[in-house]
Formats: sequence, structure tokens, C-alpha cells
Amino acid sequence: MDGKAAPDAVAAVDQARQWGRLMEMAEFGAIPGEGVNRACLTALDRASRRLLLAWGAEIGLAPSIDALGNLFLRQEGTDPTLPPVLTGSHMDSQPNGGRFDGIWGVIAGLEAIQALREAGLATKRPIELVAWTNEEGGRFAPGCMGSMAYAGYRPAHAWDEVTDAEGMSFGAELEKHLALEAHIPRRPLGVVEGVAPFAYVECHIEQGPLLEAEDLDIGVVEGIQGSRWFSVEIIGRSDHAGTAPVSLRRDAVQDMVRAITALNALMYDPADVLRFTVGRVEVSPNSSNSVAARARFSIDCRHPDAAVLRARGDAVPGVVQSAMRGCSASVAERFNALPTAFSPMICQVVEDAARAQGMGVRRMQSGAFHDAQFMVPLCPSGMIFVPCRGGVSHHPSEYSTPSQLAAGARALTAVLAELANR
Ligand code: GLV
Ligand code: MN
Ligand code: MN
Repeated sequence: MDGKAAPDAVAAVDQARQWGRLMEMAEFGAIPGEGVNRACLTALDRASRRLLLAWGAEIGLAPSIDALGNLFLRQEGTDPTLPPVLTGSHMDSQPNGGRFDGIWGVIAGLEAIQALREAGLATKRPIELVAWTNEEGGRFAPGCMGSMAYAGYRPAHAWDEVTDAEGMSFGAELEKHLALEAHIPRRPLGVVEGVAPFAYVECHIEQGPLLEAEDLDIGVVEGIQGSRWFSVEIIGRSDHAGTAPVSLRRDAVQDMVRAITALNALMYDPADVLRFTVGRVEVSPNSSNSVAARARFSIDCRHPDAAVLRARGDAVPGVVQSAMRGCSASVAERFNALPTAFSPMICQVVEDAARAQGMGVRRMQSGAFHDAQFMVPLCPSGMIFVPCRGGVSHHPSEYSTPSQLAAGARALTAVLAELANR
């Protein structure tokens, strides 16, 4: 690589352009409090992807889409036969989400590619920008479907029968999406002709408080803790709230409360490292004066130690069954991602790129899961974090400043220039 070219490309990163694009994207699904609700495979998700396609077309990036709806924009390399460097993240949001989780990693990738082009820096390897389908898992559980299928971690049709709160299936919504986007050239799902990407680098807001507290610019992510998701369904019997004696009821809500209490005891961690969340509850018929016939709830459990995650997760079905009084329960595992370690080589490239620009850097772990963890078996992978205010995320008040995000894009630009010329 020409020693002068990368600094020129870094200087070409345009803070106002990147911020403007983020704010434009935030209009798709805007909710009060400057938040975003852009569920995967909705018209809003489609609109945001189409805008990305338009921005890519303006600078000559070649689009393609795979069977999971993962969207790719390719910048050609001087040697198009070489495996590309892949960068990106996701464009869907949480139902009560913010303007940066996921989408910034996509916009930062676009900004970095555009900066390289504007600096006239052609790279040897192609660079591909990817927007993965359904990272959040808020509409269709679990998250990371697009990256898991791409990586061959799960088959392409594994989630066809998963339904959203309205009973729409992932398979049907995906088919509709692919039909509406049939003008985008199709590419095979996963590694093309057995050739994995050369590397994968994902930018993301930290979603935790460390970088802000230490007044640092860049987090070099060394790994991600493991996650397991379960869904629990409890079946009881609907009855009259005024007449049915409590002793004779099969009350799904009461058994759900017992199950969650027992799970809290199972998941108790005096060191406060384990993360246990019941974030979604559905009750039917959901009426004040009817005993609940059915209750469903989600379990999200995370820990950096695979053995702890295995033991606690494996105990979930038994603990739920033991908590039942009058109802029956079924427990299904939806997601099982082991703790992941990123490539030391990528970590070093990110750290060197940030330090060379005078940025404050620390190494860190991610508490959130990310598409990047499913790239680890395929190619050297890593992540670049930037600070976010108060560490808040999955909330409308999620915020990073334009300059914090521009610093992240500058680090990414240098990283892409380095990797795509190796
Ligand atoms: C990602 O959104 C996560 O829940 O970690
Ligand atoms: Mn995210
Ligand atoms: Mn998220």
C-alpha cells in the first residue's frame, strides 16, 4: 500500500455526510424520544435498505442479495479474483430502539468505502459492505439469522416457521421481501464457491459505559460472551375470575410467575456476571376477568464462561417443569451461541490503525451479541466499538456524537485500506 494513500482516505471521511445519513435512516421507523422501531423485513426495513442501495449506486457499488435477504454492496479490487474484505452490520432495530445500534456499522462501512474512493485509493482486494438480515430478533426470534445462515451455522430454512406477534411467519415475510427485491442480482448464500472472505470487521456502538467513562475513542473488541435464548409456553385453562375457586384453576399466569421466580434463583450470580432477562411476555386471552389459558415468555441468558452458560441453560427446562402446579409447560431453545474470541491479527490491525491516528484505545469484551461472532469460523474477524452516552442502548435515548462516530469511521477506513491491500 502507498504509505500516503491511507491518510488521505482517512481525511476524506466526512463527519457531516455520515451523520446526515444516519439521521435520514432514523426517519424510517422514528418513534418519540428520537428512537427507532424498524423491525426486520417490514416495509420500513425495506425502505432503509433501498436508500442504502441508492447511496451505493451513486458511488458505483455493485449490489447483490442472498436467500436470507442479506444485502451486499461490492467495491471492486484491482484483483477481483481475491477474496474480499467484508464489513457491515444490521439495519433492523429493537421495537423501542435507538438510531445507532446496527445501522451505524453499515453507514460507517459505506463512509469508509466512499472515503477510499474519494482519496483515489484502489485496493488490491474487493471490499464488500453487508447489511445482515434480522440481527435483533425482536420481531422473529432469534437474532443473527442472516449471519448464522451465511456462516452455515444453521440451515437457510431453519426459521421458516418462526412467527411474529401477529402470526406472520419469517419464511413468508422473507419470500415476500425477496420477491419485492427481485431486481437485485441474487448471489449464493454463504461463502461464494468455497472462498471465504479474507476478513470481516464490524463497527458498532459499545452499548456499555466503559469507553465514555475512560474518555476513549475506540474499543478493540477481543470477544463476545455466550448467549442462550429459550421460549417457554405454559398451557392452562381459561376460567371466570369471579366464580372459579382458586384451588381448582389451571392459571397460566400464576405458573409463569412461579417459573420465573424459580429461574431467578437458578440464574442468581453473586458476582453479577451472568445476565438473565425475561423481556417478552404474552398472555392469552389477556383479559382482566378471565383466568389466563396460555402464557408465553422469553429467556435470554448470557455468560462469558461456556461451562457456566451450558450448566445454567441446560437446567432451564427442568426448573420450568418443576415450577408448574396446574399447567403444562414446553421449553424450546431458540439460540445457542458460545463465547467467541476474535482474531488477534484483526485486533492488532484495529489497534494500530486507531493509535496511528492519535486515538485513545482499549481492548474490551462485548456483552451484546453481534453478527461478527458468526464470521469467526470463516475468516479472521473483529469489531470496532465507539463510545455511546451513558452506555445506554436498546432505548430511544441511545446516542453517540457525530465526532465519536466519525472517529470510528476513520479507524475503519484505515483498517480496510490495510486489510484490502494484504
Ligand atoms: C443484540 O442486539 C443483543 O441483544 O445483544
Ligand atoms: Mn446491533
Ligand atoms: Mn441490538
